[in-house]
Amino acid sequence: MLQEVLQQQHQHINVMLRVTPGISAHTHEYDQTGQVDSKFGFDIQSGQAFEALEKVLAIDSMNMLGIHAHIGSQIFEVNGFQMAAKKLIETLADWNQRIGYEAKVLNVGGGFGIRYTEDDDPIAPEEFVDAIVKTVKQETSSKGLITPAIWIEPGRSIVGPAGYNLYTVGSRKDVEGIRSYVTVDGGMGDNIRPALYQADYEAVLASNPTAPIAETVRVAGKYCESGDILIKEQALPASKPGDVLVMLATGAYGYSMASNYNRNPRPAVVFCENGEAKLVISRETYDDLISHDLTI
Ligand SMILES: Cc1ncc(COP(=O)(O)O)c(C=O)c1O
Repeated sequence: MLQEVLQQQHQHINVMLRVTPGISAHTHEYDQTGQVDSKFGFDIQSGQAFEALEKVLAIDSMNMLGIHAHIGSQIFEVNGFQMAAKKLIETLADWNQRIGYEAKVLNVGGGFGIRYTEDDDPIAPEEFVDAIVKTVKQETSSKGLITPAIWIEPGRSIVGPAGYNLYTVGSRKDVEGIRSYVTVDGGMGDNIRPALYQADYEAVLASNPTAPIAETVRVAGKYCESGDILIKEQALPASKPGDVLVMLATGAYGYSMASNYNRNPRPAVVFCENGEAKLVISRETYDDLISHDLTI
């Protein structure tokens, strides 16, 4: 399909082949992408990846730049990356031996874990990078290959901790002897991750983030789904309607995955730095929501 598009547009492109190295990161099933039974990537073991390589090499409009894998997200150990790098280099050695192919780039993907909750213990970027570079250098030199450029995709680890979702506290429901629900004016429409794959977050009250804890509550979203729970168990100071609740580390996969679920408008995005605030995306209005509706 790509070859046809390139022909029509008289274009040349660089190609990275995404492969599944057969490694599962220790993370939620929906966050795993490197195992063989995955919708992503060409499988190495069955020869599918090699077949793809030969096809790309035979197409003049494609420059076969290198090999790529992404083994999952929220990874807190260097081990998975080392195993993936080894597998990729083994594959490159095999391709080199069979047809003399030399990769210019080796991309080990993203997945560098961040602190969503106190239980998350992220590794410093230097530690990941050192381990990956060391493994790639060792493995390529032991196999007599040129060390390719090493690429990583550290998106979440940069933007995740840089963003917060701000909610206004609304009503409350106390279920005698079981728990209390505190509702907010947002939820799965602005952050689908807790409902989609049970992602954990923490929240504080904006007015006093370090105020003494008074109770543990369930933070519920406003959308018409029982699954629209933002935080299952959150220790909080006493809160009241109108308080602003800050959900931490929502800078990645928040706004980019926001939706108009239940036909709700999406919130605004504000950048803040050194005491200054700048509106960068305005709040959607109900008029925006119906702007594509046709009168029949
Ligand atoms: C190919 C690829 N690279 C990088 C990432 C980013 O992963 P993360 O945000 O967990 O670092 C993803 C996420 O699914 C991905 O599919």
